[in-house]
Amino acid sequence: MDLFEYQARDMFETHGVPVLAGAIADTPEEARAAAERIGQLSGGVTVVKAQVKTGGRGKAGGVKVAKSAEEAQAAAEQILGMDIKGHTVHRVMIAQGAKIAEEYYFSVLLDRSNRSLLAMCSKEGGMEIEQLAVERPEALARVEVDANTGIDEAKAQEIVDTAGFDAQTGAKIVPVLQKLWEVYRDEDATLVEVNPLVKTEDGGILALDGKVTLDANASFRQPHHAELEDKGAADPLEARAKELDLNYVKLDGNVGIIGNGAGLVMSTLDVVAYAGEDFTGGKASPANFLDIGGGASSEVMSNGLSVILGDEQVRSVFVNVFGGITACDEVARGIVAALETLGDEATKPLVVRLDGNNVEEGRRILAEANHPLVTIEDTMDGAARRAAELAAAN
Ligand SMILES: Nc1ncnc2c1ncn2[C@@H]1O[C@H](COP(=O)(O)OP(=O)(O)O)[C@@H](O)[C@H]1O
Ligand SMILES: [Mg+2]
Repeated sequence: MDLFEYQARDMFETHGVPVLAGAIADTPEEARAAAERIGQLSGGVTVVKAQVKTGGRGKAGGVKVAKSAEEAQAAAEQILGMDIKGHTVHRVMIAQGAKIAEEYYFSVLLDRSNRSLLAMCSKEGGMEIEQLAVERPEALARVEVDANTGIDEAKAQEIVDTAGFDAQTGAKIVPVLQKLWEVYRDEDATLVEVNPLVKTEDGGILALDGKVTLDANASFRQPHHAELEDKGAADPLEARAKELDLNYVKLDGNVGIIGNGAGLVMSTLDVVAYAGEDFTGGKASPANFLDIGGGASSEVMSNGLSVILGDEQVRSVFVNVFGGITACDEVARGIVAALETLGDEATKPLVVRLDGNNVEEGRRILAEANHPLVTIEDTMDGAARRAAELAAAN
């Protein structure tokens, strides 16, 4: 989960990383009130910043300096509702204005390809770091970090030395890097990035913009992370699926997909997309990804079906199950039970392809139930074709 800048700022503050005061506002009036308060800390100057989960806000006009509360209100009026790289701005942060002398870059992240952690640091921050990494890689220091020891004083010193900071500036940055490491470790992050990390005119070091990605696999031991979730942005179907503990991703098409095992579901999406091209100019395509996993009970099957049928775009559903640990007869009973549970809620045709362990018995159960919405197909390609055809026709 990525955090908004203001959430990263709050988190930094909790861990003792030096940041400036900031407050969020959802309306220009709130922005004005916040600027009146926060501006007092910095001679009336504030910075109004779009809160969207993408970089390059400055370049897109989403970061504006305001010299008075009136200017902050006007800036918020401009920024709220703005589209930045496909993200609509619903909220701004009013930050205390900094007197910047120099802009640096720092990040620590999970380096999957090297199975370790990596710290990156540069004297040239502020600009797009991807560009710097490509054009002048020597200007971006990369230092491997051992997860067991993290960024202690010695490691922080190594990082600032590799980045080429002078001794005086380096000495000021070292404790800040140690604090940022605490954020990374204690919050179970996979990325903590500060761009820019600035030196102010009076020589202080500040984290002026923060990006934090939290590891969802650690949420069980980070209960307070739940409230950082951006519920407004979640797709309602995805939110419902999450409540039901289903592995569901909403897509744009009209063929609902249920399968067991992520690999099988991925290839099911492919065959449906491929089959869909044959019908009136590609009018059938996958509506979702849904992996009900191994050992799927009839309850999981009916939960899954109910989420998929709640998708207004869905015209047909393709249930593609390979019986392994869960035998096909159990899956077939699950489908029959699910249709019973759903009753009138089940309104779209279902194409079912079963294969693997106990397939004969599974098909027999479905045939015997003889549900008017269910079609049984023997092959995955045949079933994909049938489901696409039904979706295109409905
Ligand atoms: N509080 C602030 N005071 C002064 N200048 C700021 C402040 N916040 C950001 N800036 C300036 O705006 C630039 C872009 O802001 P930043 O928060 O990094 O957004 P983004 O990375 O999305 O463009 C920074 O590099 C900095 O020069
Ligand atoms: Mg930035």
